[in-house]
Amino acid sequence: MHMGGVLATSCWFLLISVATPTTLLPTCPLECLCLSQTQVLCNSGGLTEVPLKLLPPTVEHLSLTRNNFPTIKSDSFAGLRHLKKLSLDGNNISLIKPFAFRGLPKLRDLSIQHTPLETVSPFAFAGLQNISTIYLSYNKIKKVESYAFAGTVSLKQLVLAHNPISKLETNAFTGMTEIDKIVLPSGIRTIEPDCFNGLDYLGHLQLAFMDLRGLKRGIFRGLTNVNYLSIQESDLGNIEGDAFDEMAFVKSLNILNNKIDSIQWLNFTWEQHVVHLRFQGNHILEIPRSETLLIEVEKLTVIQNHFPCDCHIHSLLDGPLANGSMINFISKNYCISPLEVNGMPMNNIDIDSIGRCQEEVTRGNLEASKDTNNSAERLTSFCSYLNLMLYFLKLLRIT
Ligand SMILES: *[C@@H]1O[C@H](CO)[C@@H](O)[C@H](O)[C@H]1NC(C)=O
Ligand SMILES: *[C@@H]1O[C@H](CO)[C@@H](O)[C@H](O)[C@H]1NC(C)=O
Ligand SMILES: *[C@@H]1O[C@H](CO)[C@@H](O)[C@H](O)[C@H]1NC(C)=O
Ligand SMILES: *[C@@H]1O[C@H](CO)[C@@H](O)[C@H](O)[C@H]1NC(C)=O
Ligand SMILES: *[C@@H]1O[C@H](CO)[C@@H](O)[C@H](O)[C@H]1NC(C)=O
Repeated sequence: MHMGGVLATSCWFLLISVATPTTLLPTCPLECLCLSQTQVLCNSGGLTEVPLKLLPPTVEHLSLTRNNFPTIKSDSFAGLRHLKKLSLDGNNISLIKPFAFRGLPKLRDLSIQHTPLETVSPFAFAGLQNISTIYLSYNKIKKVESYAFAGTVSLKQLVLAHNPISKLETNAFTGMTEIDKIVLPSGIRTIEPDCFNGLDYLGHLQLAFMDLRGLKRGIFRGLTNVNYLSIQESDLGNIEGDAFDEMAFVKSLNILNNKIDSIQWLNFTWEQHVVHLRFQGNHILEIPRSETLLIEVEKLTVIQNHFPCDCHIHSLLDGPLANGSMINFISKNYCISPLEVNGMPMNNIDIDSIGRCQEEVTRGNLEASKDTNNSAERLTSFCSYLNLMLYFLKLLRIT
């Protein structure tokens, strides 16, 4: 019986080689442990480059953690045609060149975690035809550049948790046509338009703990066939018109526990096929005007939100968010202001005692008596409206 020669420096290797006929024993890089023809560990081996020529070409699982590869060059793994799983965790990786992983037709799982990588550059993963999961957690990624994932058509899951990403660029996720789940880190401050464009058949996308100035035009453009989309625990700033424009076929759209300064437009049309819109637990600092809301969805849930209980509350209760069931709405939503009713359920306060806004009253009056031309009266109403606005602005500053 042969004992694997000089390479047999560890008990593990001894055990394996005892059990394996010599004819199948290939070379194994000195820094590595070839558990079998298909499983190779080169952890903490002090490697500075991938020992491509010495690895068994049949390798399916390759672990190269805690070595020293500052750059993953193009075609770094070319030739490992049977590789299914690759780990590069804990390396000093600062750059992944385009097409770094080309030539790995069977690679399913790729893990690059706990590295100082700051940027995912264009085409870094291009050519991974059969990739299923890419783990990129616990890096220093600040930027996912356009086309970073181009050419990863079969990717199902992308995990980017625990990275200081502040900006998602246009076309950042382009190319992942079969993606099921994207896990993003907290702290995102900018989402460029068309960032998710081309994501077809997305299973689950959760955007949480963001600090945005606003949900801008075109952010969700091109997202189609989404099972579950949630935007939660974030400062959304102003929701602009057209933020959800050209997003279609969404089974469940959830806007949960956010702070929203204002809603300029919220526009869901039947053509977009949003099945269930859940608007829950949000703090809205300004009641949207009902003529700016168009909510054509199959099911609408608006509960546990906090709205200002000011003169605009009447238009809120008559508008599409309440959908004709004021009793239900006020029993399930709360006041955020004025201060003395902050946090109170709406049905604890006497809605009727809240005057209608002068704006609405004035409009009503004008419509009722078009021919009376009393500019003095209009001036007074305008002034009292301004006063009201100032009052609420002051309140908001305090809270
Ligand atoms: C990691 O890479 C950087 C730049 O490439 C280098 O300055 C640094 O010394 C490396 N650190 C280690 C532990 O190899
Ligand atoms: C891709 O992976 C799946 C599942 O492991 C496998 O059945 C299929 O043969 C692979 N395709 C290629 C081209 O290797
Ligand atoms: C909603 O969007 C449709 C289609 O983009 C547009 O025609 C319509 O004017 C919008 N309505 C509102 C209330 O924004
Ligand atoms: C709005 O109310 C109407 C009438 O009660 C109801 O038929 C419809 O389903 C409601 N719409 C939504 C989106 O819940
Ligand atoms: C309304 O009154 C002002 C001055 O009192 C006058 O200049 C204006 O032409 C009037 N407008 C109409 C529509 O009558």
